[in-house]
Amino acid sequence: MILVSGATGLNGQELLRVLSAKGVAVRALVRNPAKADAIAALPHVQLVQGDMARPETLAAALRDVERAMLISSSAPDMLEVQSNFIDAAKRAGVKHVIKLSGIMPELDSAFRFARMHGEIEQRLEASGLAFTHLRAGEFMPAYFRQVPNIVAKGAMFLPMEDARIASIDVGDIAEITARVLTGSGHEGKIYPLTGPEALTMTEVAEKLSAATGKTIRYVNVPPEDARKAQLAAGMPPYLADALFELFAERRNGKEAAVWPDAGTLLGRRPKSFDEFARRHAAIFRGEAPPPKV
Ligand SMILES: NC(=O)c1ccc[n+]([C@@H]2O[C@H](COP(=O)([O-])OP(=O)(O)OC[C@H]3O[C@@H](n4cnc5c(N)ncnc54)[C@H](OP(=O)(O)O)[C@@H]3O)[C@@H](O)[C@H]2O)c1
Repeated sequence: MILVSGATGLNGQELLRVLSAKGVAVRALVRNPAKADAIAALPHVQLVQGDMARPETLAAALRDVERAMLISSSAPDMLEVQSNFIDAAKRAGVKHVIKLSGIMPELDSAFRFARMHGEIEQRLEASGLAFTHLRAGEFMPAYFRQVPNIVAKGAMFLPMEDARIASIDVGDIAEITARVLTGSGHEGKIYPLTGPEALTMTEVAEKLSAATGKTIRYVNVPPEDARKAQLAAGMPPYLADALFELFAERRNGKEAAVWPDAGTLLGRRPKSFDEFARRHAAIFRGEAPPPKV
């Protein structure tokens, strides 16, 4: 049996759709079944309730599970909840844990979630379980956060200067994850996952303009102004602080490399930002609500 955690989130839902379409029987770990109607309706998907912050709730969820996908939120307790999951998986006799990690999981990173991912990867490797680290770059849907400004002001405001970033389509991450969960030969592997090109924010704005038929500008903003705007928009302070750290790393070019692994695993070119922008043009025009990211 395969178990997918983070099942109500961005990547978990996409992964469940891919596995379901392939006819793979899968268990979806959810904290709150009331939020899980969409995944509960998928063929071959069985919901199981559990909270990674409460390890005692995980034993039943992990019974007879051979491979598990580990995903949780970018939250202050990420290190603790993912460590709980690894310990519970070990106790339950799970064979292989696949972890959704970050592209630069350095223990001395300025970005708190990169440090946590690095620590979790090490704990997973030390657990004795088979592991695969999927080190994903920026998810393309991160640009949905810019929709209010794009619609109201025709601009995206980011503290990126002219740095490049190689963001990835979450559908591609889901396809790769499904192959790792159902295939062989991925034990002990580390896959950095990016899209096929590294773009400046000026290029991202040009691509969104082309897809929407509207002029969308990129405005570089001082990092402190970006943080204040996020707090004013209601973002929790820990997340605004984490993004402040993350963008400092990005301005240093830490996410500018394009890695070949996604293309190798998919057997095709990963989806481009142009394709993402065209697929979601109605959202960037303000004609459809952006998904929560
Ligand atoms: N944003 C990026 O560009 C980026 C890039 C690379 C890596 N990452 C990493 O990707 C991960 C987030 O992935 P995502 O965006 O797909 O997730 P997401 O949309 O933020 O959703 C998080 C999921 O984890 C679940 N969850 C959180 N805490 C839990 C707990 N204690 N017990 C059970 N379930 C729990 C949530 O359940 P509820 O619905 O109940 O809250 C939700 O299903 C983070 O580790 C982040 O650092 C992000």
